[in-house]
Amino acid sequence: MSRALILGGSRSNPDSNAGADMQVDLAGIPMPSPILTASGCAAAGRELDGFFDITRLGAVVTKSIMLKPRAGRATPRMSETPSGMLNSIGLQGPGIDSFIENDLAWLNQRGARTIISIAGETVDEYSRLASKLRAAGGFEAIEVNISCPNVADRGQVFACRAESAAQVVQAVRRNSDSRVPIFAKLSPDVTDIVEIADSVIKAGATGLSLINTLLGMVIDTSTMRPALAGVTGGLSGPAIRPVAVRCVWQVRQAFPQVPIIGMGGIRSGRDALEFMLAGATAVSVGTAVFNDPKAPARIHDELAQEVKARGFSKVEDLIGYAHRSEDAPIPVAPESSALDEWDFITE
Ligand SMILES: Cc1cc2nc3c(=O)[nH]c(=O)nc-3n(C[C@H](O)[C@H](O)[C@H](O)COP(=O)(O)O)c2cc1C
Repeated sequence: MSRALILGGSRSNPDSNAGADMQVDLAGIPMPSPILTASGCAAAGRELDGFFDITRLGAVVTKSIMLKPRAGRATPRMSETPSGMLNSIGLQGPGIDSFIENDLAWLNQRGARTIISIAGETVDEYSRLASKLRAAGGFEAIEVNISCPNVADRGQVFACRAESAAQVVQAVRRNSDSRVPIFAKLSPDVTDIVEIADSVIKAGATGLSLINTLLGMVIDTSTMRPALAGVTGGLSGPAIRPVAVRCVWQVRQAFPQVPIIGMGGIRSGRDALEFMLAGATAVSVGTAVFNDPKAPARIHDELAQEVKARGFSKVEDLIGYAHRSEDAPIPVAPESSALDEWDFITE
């Protein structure tokens, strides 16, 4: 398959998306597509670039990087689940210095828009990561992965407490170029996600990434032991989509001006549309790339068709559209693109 695949054009005819304007403005970053990769599911984009042109994505969101190189958790660290998977990779990575020198340099040379995900075990580590990135430059935004255990607080996950989530975001904001948007990536494993969103927005987050994986566990009934060496892991894939859509909906309703990157089980254009209708400006595709590396490109094409089929010319007009009042009119879809004509998406 050629690398020219396919973002911005249909499979057979590159012009057949004409009429669906797929550009979005994410916190002031102009993007040709609302489709991004999800952190941790496409490394720094190098491998995916063999399947499609990653510069046509809205942005590559890189695997969360920490200060020092890390080997991650012991294996096994992946387990399939009904409509999803469980992982306990444990933030394996080369450390920030090597990331800047190799991965970020490659992304810049390739011309890809880049959102860098960072993770730390203390607030100070996040500060130091932000300072190193400020010195390096060459990226569009920072995504702050706060679903990490806080070693200064008995391993409690930063994202699960409003106060610790805010401390991290404040530290990153303080040590970053003030023009760089910061997206706080929240965990759904909380009682009230709006409360956490409120605290990180007040601490200086420009936008929110919703959602990280849900904490889960699988027991192997033949060994009668936990399936993962790390015992628990993060649940991702279609199984979590309704939870993710609910989180996007609730946060959008509370903070309609705050840009959201939505994710959780997106594997078709229609799934992406659902997130945008709920209020996401852009969406990240994660688990889907493990069985279809071209998924981000395919989903872009499918979303363009979904937009046209509903009688819209711009994908931006659909952001948050599900929040309109019940009696607002629905545009009439053009006859030539009736939904059932291209109902090729398999569920
Ligand atoms: C194997 C794997 C590794 C992940 N690593 C990260 C990571 O490093 N940082 C992060 O913020 N999220 C990470 N995630 C979470 C994803 O970015 C995403 O939030 C989540 O999987 C939901 O999207 P999905 O269902 O499309 O995968 C990872 C997910 C998977 C499956």
